[in-house]
Amino acid sequence: MRVLVVGGGGREHSLCWAISASPLCDALYCAPGNAGIAQDAECVPIAADDIEGLLRFATENAIDFVVVGPEAALVLGLVDRLAEAGIKAFGPTAAAAMLEGSKGFMKDLCAKYAIPTAAYGRFTDAVAAKAHIEQTGAPIVVKADGLAAGKGVTVARTTGEALAAVDAAMIDSAFGDAGQELIIEECMVGEELSFFALVDGRTALPLVGAQDHKAVGDGDTGPNTGGMGAYSPAPALTEALQAEIMERIIEPTVEGMAVEGAPFKGVLYAGLMLTDEGPKLLEYNVRFGDPECQVLMLRLRSDILPALVASCDGMLETFDLRWSDDAALTVVMATVGYPGAYAKGSEIRGLDAVSPENAIVFHAGTATENGRLLANGGRVLNVTASGATISEAQAKAYAAVDMIDWPEGFCRRDIGWRAVARGA
Ligand code: AMP
Ligand code: GLY
Repeated sequence: MRVLVVGGGGREHSLCWAISASPLCDALYCAPGNAGIAQDAECVPIAADDIEGLLRFATENAIDFVVVGPEAALVLGLVDRLAEAGIKAFGPTAAAAMLEGSKGFMKDLCAKYAIPTAAYGRFTDAVAAKAHIEQTGAPIVVKADGLAAGKGVTVARTTGEALAAVDAAMIDSAFGDAGQELIIEECMVGEELSFFALVDGRTALPLVGAQDHKAVGDGDTGPNTGGMGAYSPAPALTEALQAEIMERIIEPTVEGMAVEGAPFKGVLYAGLMLTDEGPKLLEYNVRFGDPECQVLMLRLRSDILPALVASCDGMLETFDLRWSDDAALTVVMATVGYPGAYAKGSEIRGLDAVSPENAIVFHAGTATENGRLLANGGRVLNVTASGATISEAQAKAYAAVDMIDWPEGFCRRDIGWRAVARGA
């Protein structure tokens, strides 16, 4: 099978790493990839959201199967276009990707199919949005409807903050078109948990639990990022809780999407709040989490490629995935300044010192120039290790981090702390 992976981050590196180990994979390409991915796949310089370019490459190079990493290409209809050209792909159609592409769509689906989520209203008018905030009071949550690179959510402690969020989105267009419609919702309290399932349109197969750390600073402080680290398993995800999430949230979503004529295929990634009334849906993503995917790939014992193909073919019903009992943990090394402004092009040394027994270093944003490895993004490396416990995986990951010589980089020093505090 000739496979093309779309994307160029740590998630895609871990997917390429896993797919390249499949005996079913004869050739592996990645668009656009990065310097680390180039060790596992042939990188082609096509942007991950260049639908026409990707379509042309897949057609001209007799690609059998495309695995789409990031959400943008999914929302833009890459999977639909590939299907029209007779090329199979892993990921949802544009209509099904609306679960992530429009928070209003997701909330309306929840309302229609009684899926537990925060109470909400949809607003396209700033005056009406503000009146609703004044009437309801704080705390309250203001969200841009569309894709806003993880930045479109304000959890407002005061009505003033919420009103300012309305102005930023609707008047100042801080999120472009994505913020011209707002979802204003009830503020939920509880512990957050991510949940992943592989879906084939009808059947949902839960994956093992994984948890990320979104805040940039130790102790989960400071501004939110795409994720500064992740670990698996997630101790909060008990068997009973998993059954409840499947029954009350994932399965009704999969059924609802099928009834709506937009059957969902791909990875359904639910952001959940564990409230006193049980798990409630915060948001859906229609792709693997980044960096959660990296720890999942490290623990996966089955060949990933047939699983991705089964999701596309509607054949997950009889499918099973095997996972290592070992825990896995990944530490994101980012360029100083991230998630704010940062410089590109600083040199990274010492990666050769990290052997696969210590850790696997997935690349999230790197490039090579004259044989030198350079940082080429905000999140740059994902140092990923396994161990009998999360605590052991954590120690191994940080030992490997300390072998890497990159003065312009930084990382959190406490990835996995909640799990370690629980004795995991
Ligand atoms: P989202 O992109 O919708 O997951 O929101 C980003 C973050 O905002 C979540 O991970 C939560 O920490 C927080 N958040 C979103 N919606 C709510 C809500 N209704 N109540 C409390 N916190 C929320
Ligand atoms: N780690 C969060 C995300 O992938 O959205």
